[in-house]
Amino acid sequence: MAWSEADIPDQSGRIALVTGANSGLGLETARALAQRGATVLLACRQRSRGEAARQQLLPLARAGLELIDLDLADLASVAAAASQVQREFGRLDLLINNAGVMAPPRRLSRDGYELQFAVNHLGHFALTAALLPLLKQQIGARVVTVSSGAHYFGRITFDDLQGERRYDPWTAYGQSKLANVMMALDLQERLAAAGSTTLSIAAHPGLARTNLQPSSVAAKGSWIEGLAYRLLDPLFQSAAMGALPQLHAAVAPDARGGALYGPDGLANLGGWPVSCKIAAAALDGSQRRRLWQASEELCGFSSKTAVA
Ligand SMILES: NC(=O)c1ccc[n+]([C@@H]2O[C@H](COP(=O)([O-])OP(=O)(O)OC[C@H]3O[C@@H](n4cnc5c(N)ncnc54)[C@H](OP(=O)(O)O)[C@@H]3O)[C@@H](O)[C@H]2O)c1
Repeated sequence: MAWSEADIPDQSGRIALVTGANSGLGLETARALAQRGATVLLACRQRSRGEAARQQLLPLARAGLELIDLDLADLASVAAAASQVQREFGRLDLLINNAGVMAPPRRLSRDGYELQFAVNHLGHFALTAALLPLLKQQIGARVVTVSSGAHYFGRITFDDLQGERRYDPWTAYGQSKLANVMMALDLQERLAAAGSTTLSIAAHPGLARTNLQPSSVAAKGSWIEGLAYRLLDPLFQSAAMGALPQLHAAVAPDARGGALYGPDGLANLGGWPVSCKIAAAALDGSQRRRLWQASEELCGFSSKTAVA
C-alpha cells in the first residue's frame, strides 16, 4: 500500500533538524514533521527566508519551530550551527540533509571548494559528523541524506574533485549527488560496525516543483533550460509528494539503514516512496572509503571519534 503523510507516526518529544527548510522539499519536510508533533530546527542560510518559513509553519506546528543559521558553503558556519544545537537543545533525533544547489556556473565556497561539492556533500558531511554524538544518544535516531536521480549518472573525479581542470555544471551536480548516496551508505556501514542503532538512509524525490530549477536557470541565465523546464512541467510532481521519500526514510518504522528511497512511478520520477536501485558506483566500498577520507581531509577533521 502507498505510504503517505498520514502514515507518519506521532513525533511528539522528538527533535528534527532539516537543512534548507525554507523552501521546496525542506519546507514540506519541516511542515509534515511539525504537524506530527516534532520540534523542528529550520537550518537556513538566510535568516529572513528562514523566518518567513517559520511564520508560515507556526500555525500548523504542534511543538517548537526554531531557526538555526547554517551556510553549508562555509565550514565555520556548519561548526557553529552544530554547536548551537548541542548548546541550546542537547538532543537530536532526526537529521535531514536536504539543502542543495543544482548546476550553477563554477563558483567556490567560502573555504575555496567547488560550490556543489561543498554545499551538497562536504557541508552535510561535516554537519553529520558534528551532530552524530547527539544523534547516537537517542534510540531510533536517523540521518537522511537527500540525493537525486542524477546520482545514477554521477562519477567521483578523485583527481579533480573541485572541477579545477574541467568543469561542467551537470557533471559536478551528478558527482555531488553520488557523493550523497556514498556518504549515506558508508555512514550506515560504520554505524552498524560500531554497534550503533542510529540509521543512515538516502532518499531522492524524483522530479518535484521547487525553487531548484528556477534558481539553476537564473544562475546560468540559460533561456533554453528555462524553456525545457516549462515543456517538462507535466512530469513534475508537487513538492509535498517529492518530500515523501525523505519523510519515509526519516520516520517509517520499516525503513532500512543503507537503503535509497524514491518515488515508485515510471523511471522513479514521481509517485509513492519505495526502495530504489542504488547506482553501482555507490555500492563500491573502496570508492566510498576513498571519498570518506578525502572528505575528512577537505573538512580538516577526523570523524572516527564521532562515528565509533
Ligand atoms: N526538486 C527536484 O526535482 C529535485 C530532484 C532531485 C533532487 N533534489 C534535491 O532535493 C534537495 C532539496 O532541493 P529543492 O528541490 O527543495 O530545492 P529548493 O527549493 O531550491 O531548496 C533548496 C534549499 O537549499 C538551501 N541552500 C542552498 N544553498 C545553501 C547553503 N549554502 N547553505 C544552506 N542552505 C542552502 C536553499 O536556501 P535558499 O532558499 O536560501 O537558497 C533552499 O532552502 C536538494 O538536495 C536537491 O538536490 C531535488
